[in-house]
Amino acid sequence: MHIRQRIQLAVGKAYVHGRSAIEGLQHGVAFNPYDKSVTSNPYPVHNRMRELRPIHYSPTWQAYWVSRFDWVQEILRDKRFGADVRQHPKRYERVTKYMSPRRRELFDNPSMLDLDPPDHTRVRKLAQQGFLHKFIQSLEPRIREIVRGCLDASGNEKIVDFVDSLAKPLPAIVIAEMLGLPKEDHDQFAHWSEELMLGTGTADADKLERSLKANYALIDYFRQVSEAKAENPGDDMISRLISAEEEGDKLSGNELYNTCLLLLVAGHETTTRLIGNGLYLLMQHPDQFEQLRTNPDMIPQAIEEMLRFEPPVQATRRFVLEDVDFHGTALKKGQLVFVSIPGANRDPSINDSPEEFHIDRENPKQVSFGYGIHLCIGASLARMEARVAFEEILARYDHLELAETPVWGNNPFFRGVDALKLST
Ligand code: HEM
Repeated sequence: MHIRQRIQLAVGKAYVHGRSAIEGLQHGVAFNPYDKSVTSNPYPVHNRMRELRPIHYSPTWQAYWVSRFDWVQEILRDKRFGADVRQHPKRYERVTKYMSPRRRELFDNPSMLDLDPPDHTRVRKLAQQGFLHKFIQSLEPRIREIVRGCLDASGNEKIVDFVDSLAKPLPAIVIAEMLGLPKEDHDQFAHWSEELMLGTGTADADKLERSLKANYALIDYFRQVSEAKAENPGDDMISRLISAEEEGDKLSGNELYNTCLLLLVAGHETTTRLIGNGLYLLMQHPDQFEQLRTNPDMIPQAIEEMLRFEPPVQATRRFVLEDVDFHGTALKKGQLVFVSIPGANRDPSINDSPEEFHIDRENPKQVSFGYGIHLCIGASLARMEARVAFEEILARYDHLELAETPVWGNNPFFRGVDALKLST
């Protein structure tokens, strides 16, 4: 580690005890996304980082953070930045050194999210056949039924937790049904999926262990279900993925199970956060909530602004594939680079008055679904789930207001409130 980085790290550790992360930045201290003052409100520090140094080195993470909108897009579309850690022998060795053979096998068969072309192009093309526009559109009536069922379950309760009753179960049920999992397995599936999520953005050994166990269980489960569906195909995503073919090419067994797991990981918590955070934003801006109630056809536009203002995914990462001079910063092959989605979405050079939430903002620009070759494959499904959820909430409740101030979770990669209790 460079001497300047060592000093920054030491100062940074001392600094977090006494001052906020944003003050730290002003004094040249490195950004630490786990800092409580960052997870409770990440925007001031991402903004400050963009103003001071839009490519900022964090010794704590041994990684750069990029926070300008155009630079974020540049990294996500530049072929010299990849997602596959296996391209970097040193880093790969460090990460896999103490892995069990089973864990190593999972790691050596990454999902498309962690692949680079040409493997990524191949797997993504095949997986996209499960996301054909018509198929996703055909899910709307059932999604509406699920939303109504979730809201019915709260009956006439005076205080309803909308995260627990709607935002959490909705995407889990949608994914389970979309994959075509047997109904009697749904509870077990929901349990594994909750356990799996414990492993994101944490260093807690117990949580990581539970998450890994759920990961193994889910892979075994997808293997069993796929074998059954290969014998008896249905009109569901697993059957579509099994039969997906491009010029004689098909998904291998591991690619199929990993894609199913990725759909769960990538599509569950993110959609929960979009609905929970979006509803919380409306509660914080009652005038806009009323505007939406009188103009429900503005819901799709409001969802774009929710995505911009409170992005459920706060960062994604790339590795430098060859030495690059990135706007004056020399990035060495193998270097880890994070892109800051809050930094990009609130860049004032791209969105006017970015600190204001306006559901009628004209064409809000955001990278909340990523950008470039890894652009979210489930974006239209997530938008549809959120749209139906807000339509049904507005149609059902004449009055909603905060019963308790919710608390932001402390995961620096997924931003969301774990409970949202509203008086109905
Ligand atoms: C509001 C909800 C969602 C948000 C904010 C979100 C966000 C993202 C982001 C930022 C990426 C790019 C990651 C990167 O570049 O490293 C991504 C990729 C992906 N998302 Fe989503 N996502 C959401 C919902 C979904 C849903 C519902 C599904 C599917 C059921 C899904 C499936 C995927 C997949 C498969 C990828 C990987 C694409 C690739 O590597 O080519 N996402 N998502």
